[in-house]
Amino acid sequence: MGDKRHLVWELLLPLIFSDIHTSILTIKIAQRIESMCGIVGCKGDARASEILLNALKSLEYRGYDSVGMAVLNKCQIFIKKDIGKISDVDKKLNFKGLEGNAGIAHSRWCTHGGVSKENSHPHTDSNGDIAVVHNGIIENFEKLKKELIEKGYVFRSETDTEVLPYLIEEAMKDGNDLKSSVIKIFQKIKGRNAIVVLNKKGDLIGARNGSPLIVGLSDSACFIASDIPAFLRHTNKVMYLDDGEMVVMGKKPIFYNMSTWKEVWKRLIEIDWNAKQAEKGEHPHFMIKEIMEQKETIKEAINQNDKEILKIAGDINNAFGTFFTACGTAGKVCLTGEYLFSQISKKHVNYIVSSEFPNYQHFLTSKTLLITVSQSGETADVMEAVETAKKKNVKIVSIVNVKGSSLDRVSDHTFLINAGPEKAVASTKATTAQMAVIMLLAYACDGRLEEGKRLLIETAAKVNDMLNPRYEDHIKSLAEKLKKVPNIYIIGRGLNYAMALESAIKIQEVSRIHAEGFAGGELKHGPLALIDKGVPCIALVANDDVKNDIINNAIEIKSRGGYIIGVSPENNKVFDYWLKVPDVGVASPIASIIPVQLLAYHLGVLRGLDPDYCVNLAKAVCVK
Ligand code: M6R
Repeated sequence: MGDKRHLVWELLLPLIFSDIHTSILTIKIAQRIESMCGIVGCKGDARASEILLNALKSLEYRGYDSVGMAVLNKCQIFIKKDIGKISDVDKKLNFKGLEGNAGIAHSRWCTHGGVSKENSHPHTDSNGDIAVVHNGIIENFEKLKKELIEKGYVFRSETDTEVLPYLIEEAMKDGNDLKSSVIKIFQKIKGRNAIVVLNKKGDLIGARNGSPLIVGLSDSACFIASDIPAFLRHTNKVMYLDDGEMVVMGKKPIFYNMSTWKEVWKRLIEIDWNAKQAEKGEHPHFMIKEIMEQKETIKEAINQNDKEILKIAGDINNAFGTFFTACGTAGKVCLTGEYLFSQISKKHVNYIVSSEFPNYQHFLTSKTLLITVSQSGETADVMEAVETAKKKNVKIVSIVNVKGSSLDRVSDHTFLINAGPEKAVASTKATTAQMAVIMLLAYACDGRLEEGKRLLIETAAKVNDMLNPRYEDHIKSLAEKLKKVPNIYIIGRGLNYAMALESAIKIQEVSRIHAEGFAGGELKHGPLALIDKGVPCIALVANDDVKNDIINNAIEIKSRGGYIIGVSPENNKVFDYWLKVPDVGVASPIASIIPVQLLAYHLGVLRGLDPDYCVNLAKAVCVK
């Protein structure tokens, strides 16, 4: 009986999900600008403002429309904040002028309230005795704000955050200390949030529910931040807060469960990232550094524990339906995964974009397996997909870059992709590393793990050869030609279909040129109407069984005047410009996306944009 149901499931799913892929692009383009911020606090070092300033610089990828800092000096909290990028605001305000050994800071990405000095964090209570930085969205803030106004509080900003210091102030009026007040307000606020609070007595407290917060400990000081690189130059010893927990910072931080009010024991974990990895080094931008790091990161990604790969491959083979879920670029990796599993192990797996995942909950049973893919491990929609799946007792396997991230900790099993910190908003090295891990699983499902490893090692070596200065110059010349075009289209088929969609994401976010990816076969069903003389179209052409079809699609575009950029192991007379990639069989999505990453990078630079900070986007999207 079980086998028959499994068969029916396998036959039905392709029909059920046949519409999903077409909707992905629409979802990406309509991406909400609700995003997230970077928060940080430190205590115990007289250079607090310098530490916080450096931390802010490393958190800037999380939000960069305004910035602020509060430092404690002689029982008084001093605040500097303004709109703009950190370096510009620092030039104007000189953050290091704030003297003291404890402080908090914030780099903002607006959600509630526009970009203004008043809306920048930190926010304080009525007397300036308590300062708060916040990451997330307080879903019930309007109701809370109304109640506070009725009690006489005067709001100075349009933010949801400002209710927090007033709620704390209110709780303290009832005789609560800072710790109890923070617990009480966390019981009142709804949504995914993390806060760090400083009062004039020097108490520093962090609390989270849904947004990341990590504690770092050095010999002399303690740190708390949204992400590890914020304090990596001081320590690699970290402790993770879980949802519903708070921490009272000090030499020995004390963690509490905010529901039970009881102390919680935490393990001190040493992470193997170092500060240098989180810096640009000789590169002008993180994005180009991270693209170039793919010479190594593909190899690092393959470095998995065989037993674990085989165990999860067994789970996939035995599952009653395997789903992949992720957002954005990681989603395109999952879509590639569908094709990889189909080609390598003849296995049907289903990708569902995370924000749509709850709509598919009726197909989940306790025998379903959910594989999530995320660089940050903090993406809110992915976390919600996991929550949905957990309610049905689904086993969760994650492919993640950030060790100890929320996703890592809620998963039954995690494969770390070992790519090191990825800081540019546009994902590059994480993308190819994620694909490598998925390939290993697909090969392992077919009992051919060693063959998969060999292919990936060969791919890593060929990518290493490809990423040389001449290759980059060749792509730069193409970027010069394309820098003023209004539109770029990308076509792919089979294994490279998802990479056509991913190419569009890279070009959109980094260069702000309108770009769209299509399945080659879809051209005649609409997109061909967009082709005119000189319209650039990138064709991802691998040496595979769809090669002739995709070349024919390129010919169709060329005969309407289109300018064809071929990304392919071999040149073809239809190509106007050829970007050579190594011939690596089913690993071709890994090879074909790299030149497009480089193209997007150089287009961004030539168009005067900062490729590390994509307009309207942030690195980790921790709110829905
Ligand atoms: O951290 P995650 O991998 O979960 O992030 C998912 C997406 O937000 C991310 O891939 C986004 O699409 C990038 N900006 C793409 O470059």
